[in-house]
Amino acid sequence: MTMTTRYLSVGSDPNHDPAVIEAAELLHAGEVVAFPTETVYGLGADATQPEAVQKIFDAKQRPSDNPVIVHVGTMEQALQFAQDPNFYFFTLAKAFWPGPLTLVVPATDMAKASVTRGLDTVALRMPRHPVALALTQRAGVGIAAPSANLSGRPSPTKAEHVRQDLAGRIPLILDGGSCQVGIESTVLDLTGHTPGILRPGQISAADLERVLGAPIKEVAGEEAKRRSPGTRYRHYAPDAPVWVLGPAIGPDAFELLLQFLVEKQGLKRIGYLGWRPLEGVYADRVEKYAIDRGPRQLAHELYRYFRELDDREVDLILVEGAVQRGLGIALMDRLQKAASQIFETERQLRQYMEE
Ligand code: TXA
Ligand code: MG
Repeated sequence: MTMTTRYLSVGSDPNHDPAVIEAAELLHAGEVVAFPTETVYGLGADATQPEAVQKIFDAKQRPSDNPVIVHVGTMEQALQFAQDPNFYFFTLAKAFWPGPLTLVVPATDMAKASVTRGLDTVALRMPRHPVALALTQRAGVGIAAPSANLSGRPSPTKAEHVRQDLAGRIPLILDGGSCQVGIESTVLDLTGHTPGILRPGQISAADLERVLGAPIKEVAGEEAKRRSPGTRYRHYAPDAPVWVLGPAIGPDAFELLLQFLVEKQGLKRIGYLGWRPLEGVYADRVEKYAIDRGPRQLAHELYRYFRELDDREVDLILVEGAVQRGLGIALMDRLQKAASQIFETERQLRQYMEE
C-alpha cells in the first residue's frame, strides 16, 4: 500500500477553506483523511460507508475488533448512529458538546454495519476543533475516526506525527496546528444503570456528576476490558522504559536516583519530563523537557515528548506523576499504561535501589 500523501494547511476560516472542501470530497468518495481535533489527530472515513471505514483499519493496522468513534457535527447526525439514546445522553451532549467527551449508547443498524465491530453500542462525539467541526458539517455525515497513529504508537498531536506514521498510506493530512488538549477524549458508557467512565480524559467524573446530578462510576480493570475493547490491547510505551515519580520524592532522593542510574546501571542518557532544576553532577546525562506549568502542560506535551525521546534513543524516561485529581487522573491513566515502574514514596525508591 503506497500512495502520495498530500499535506494541506487549513487557514483561519475552515468553513470556506479549499483544503476542508477537498477533504469532504475525499470522504464522500470513500477515502480516508487525517484531521485535527482538540484532543489528538483523527483518521476519518465516512461512517455510513463500511468499505471506507475498513480503509482506516488497513492504514493504521488496527485490530479489526476494536470499534471506532463516530464524530458528528450536529445532533441530527448523531441520531443516525444512536438508537433511542436516554436522557443522560441529551443532557451531557447539551452541556459538553462540542468538546472532548465521547458517549457510548445503543447502536443503530447503520452504526453496526460499519463502526461497532460486533458490539451493539456505538461511541459518539462532537469535536470542538474548528477544522473537525467544519469537516463533519461540510461532509454532512458522521465521520468514523480513531487516533491517526499506526496501532501501538502514541496518538499524534501534530500533523507531523501523522506524517511520520501514515505517509504513503493515506491520501490527505489536514494540518490544523498542535492539538490543544493532547490526550484522548473521556469515554463514558451510558448503557448501564450507572454511567461509567471507560477512559478518563480532560472532562472528569466530577464535571460529569455536576451536570447529571447523579453518581458516575470509574470503570476500570476487567470490567473496562469487557466493555471497551480498546483497553484490551497493549498500549503505547516508548522504546525506553518509563518510570513515574510521585510528588513525595524529594530532591535528595532524586539525586540518589540519578547517581544509581548512572553509576550502578551504567545509563548514558536519561530523558526527564518534569519541573526539577538539574544542577547536580549527573545533570549532563539528563535530557530535560521542562514541565513546570502543571497537568495541562504535561497532557499537551506528553505524546510529543514520548515521540522525541524515542527518536533520541534515551535509555530511560523519568516522568513526574500528576496528582490524582481532574486532568491528573487521565494523565496517570496514560502514564500507568506506559510505565514499567511507579515510585510513589522515597521508601519504595530506596528499596528498589538496594535490591
Ligand atoms: O479524543 C479522541 O477520542 C480521539 C479523537 C480522534 O477523537 N479518538 C480516539 O479514538 O482516541 P481511538 O479509536 O484511538 O480510541 C477510542 C476508544 C477505544 O478504546 C475504543 O475501543 C473505544 O473508544 N470505543 C469505541 N467504540 C466503543 C463502544 N461502542 N463501546 C466501548 N468502547 C468503545
Ligand atoms: Mg488510539
